[in-house]
Amino acid sequence: MSGESFENLSYEDRTFTPSQSFIDNANTKSDIYDEANKDRLAFWEKQANRLSWNKKWDQVVDWQLPFAKWFVGGKLNASFNCLDRHVIEGRGERVAFHFEGEPGDTQTITYKQLLSDVCKATNALIELGVKQGDRIAIYMPMIPQAAIAMLACARLGAMHSVVFGGFSADALLSRIQDADASLVITADGGYRKSAAFALKGAVDEALKGSTNVKNVLVVKRTGQEVAWGSKDVWWHEIVDRQSDKHEPEFFDSENGLFILYTSGTTAKPKGIYHTTGGYLTQAAFTHHAVFDLKPETDVYWCTADVGWITGHSYVVYGPLINGATQVMYEGTPDTPTKGRVFQLIEKYKVSILYTAPTLIRTWMKWGDEYPNGSNLSSLRLLGSVGEPINPEAWMWYREVIGKNNCPIVDTWWQTETGAIMISPLPGVTATKPGSAMKALPGIGAEVVDDEGNAVGNGRGGYLVLTQPWPSMMRGIWKEPVRYKDTYWSRFNNLYFAGDGAKLDKDGAIWLLGRVDDVMNVSGHRISTTEVESALVSHEAVAEAAVVGAKDEMTGQGIVAFVILRGGIEAAKGDTLVKQLRDHVAKEIGAIAKPRQIMVVAELPKTRSGKIMRRLLKDVAENRAVGDSTTLADPNVMKLISEGLQSGKSED
Ligand code: WTA
Repeated sequence: MSGESFENLSYEDRTFTPSQSFIDNANTKSDIYDEANKDRLAFWEKQANRLSWNKKWDQVVDWQLPFAKWFVGGKLNASFNCLDRHVIEGRGERVAFHFEGEPGDTQTITYKQLLSDVCKATNALIELGVKQGDRIAIYMPMIPQAAIAMLACARLGAMHSVVFGGFSADALLSRIQDADASLVITADGGYRKSAAFALKGAVDEALKGSTNVKNVLVVKRTGQEVAWGSKDVWWHEIVDRQSDKHEPEFFDSENGLFILYTSGTTAKPKGIYHTTGGYLTQAAFTHHAVFDLKPETDVYWCTADVGWITGHSYVVYGPLINGATQVMYEGTPDTPTKGRVFQLIEKYKVSILYTAPTLIRTWMKWGDEYPNGSNLSSLRLLGSVGEPINPEAWMWYREVIGKNNCPIVDTWWQTETGAIMISPLPGVTATKPGSAMKALPGIGAEVVDDEGNAVGNGRGGYLVLTQPWPSMMRGIWKEPVRYKDTYWSRFNNLYFAGDGAKLDKDGAIWLLGRVDDVMNVSGHRISTTEVESALVSHEAVAEAAVVGAKDEMTGQGIVAFVILRGGIEAAKGDTLVKQLRDHVAKEIGAIAKPRQIMVVAELPKTRSGKIMRRLLKDVAENRAVGDSTTLADPNVMKLISEGLQSGKSED
């Protein structure tokens, strides 16, 4: 960890207290922290009672560091909790989703309708042979069937592994193989930036690899032409003819709910494994407490794709358990105009908006005329997730989107934590622009130094979690040793999140980004190693080093340094750079396309051969290069810096 990036944070003294009326009506009051501190486990038991259990648990937690089981012996069904319960209790006519396709097509789906759609899909999965414990890959655009597919898997006790629709065939294949998925649920394609993109073709490409996939279930979304093989089944042909009744079975609290892959520090993505009872408990509690959801009156919109953890916890499970009415939007925020999101807020009278700093910064760049062109007065709460939100963007969000009238909850959490861990409570916390403030009730977080000692207020260090929590990952799929090494070995008895953080003089937590070599691009974690492997897999590249450089729009941008193989001329640089960027997009997905690729003659390495990314990062961020005395060849950095003046390429 480079000391400077954690020390030079200026003190922010603006605070924003919630209005009296917000405080009076808030779902949580300030005494909730004391309640949780007094008896943490009793607190979580109380939250678990938000769910409907078929059998109550015998034990709250079984904690054998680093392996946790929560609500041991309890039985429940995730899909029942999201759907049946609302219908049984008379909420069937409430809208679950206002869906808006990018081309403007809409669907209004009530809880009753969603239950019937999920039952049909469940019956179709049964016909296709899906059983409890199976792994199902879901590779979909952001359409209702994505949520329906997830809930149908959960209803059967099968685990979904959602693969973001922007990932390439290769990325999909490795995830199918790692989880040994037996079924892929996909669509012909989806709509993005006014055009139909294809998904089925990527599935076909992926399945040329060796897998145990028996069927591919395909939703017809765009009507584009697709190749058809013996494993392929149209969703409408098998799902539509099923009964819309399905009696759910109740599964153990620790039954697997899903695997979601996230980038690690080595090339192989980590299959983050989550189970049912604890995950749902914390997803439901945090959604209730942090977003202050009033299910009868609020319209809630989380802009995340179901391909990310935010889409799992705060589009599917948390909000549906809480009976929320949501907006789901398929497309990009600039189609057909840069005002699309704001028009939808006005159209559906959205009251709670949860989005990412990268989008907020993009809106700032586009200009205030877009938000000002719509009536945003329905908004009453704003949320942020995925990366640190800089104070400037926070203030803009507050003033231009929230009209100084909405508390902002900056929520820190991870795929691994399953649900929000650090956040203001909107009716309790006086917020500071750019700070996630403090650990939620029932959660233990601390900032520690290299030795694992608490740094105290006014100092920076590593963010750790000190207590097991209900929605914590149960492991990395099939890799218990890697799980332990990655998260539980840096400090004794503490979960190391991989983020740097600072406590200000009042003890508020400020997140400072990743300390390892995982980049955070537009809120998406991408490992430097994965991009390096992709570059090196191109015939022209001998060696590559990738760093995440500060980027005003996307948080971090990917900057790659490559050494070409002998005989390949750097003079052809420009076409080659384009080829390399496209190659990375093909190997990993467009999201991992380097912002910039620099052709260099050498890379800075230590004597043991480790690339010193810190120095490359200095270059990429246009800083004076730091201490390079441990380099095997101290001249290398000079050569790289000089070479840059000619070799820059950007688009
Ligand atoms: C970063 C997304 C600062 C952090 C839910 C974390 C944040 C990683 C915040 C997890 C925030 C997420 N402030 N940084 N409010 N939220 N991060 O797994 O580096 O996609 O470790 O989960 O995003 O990313 P993931």
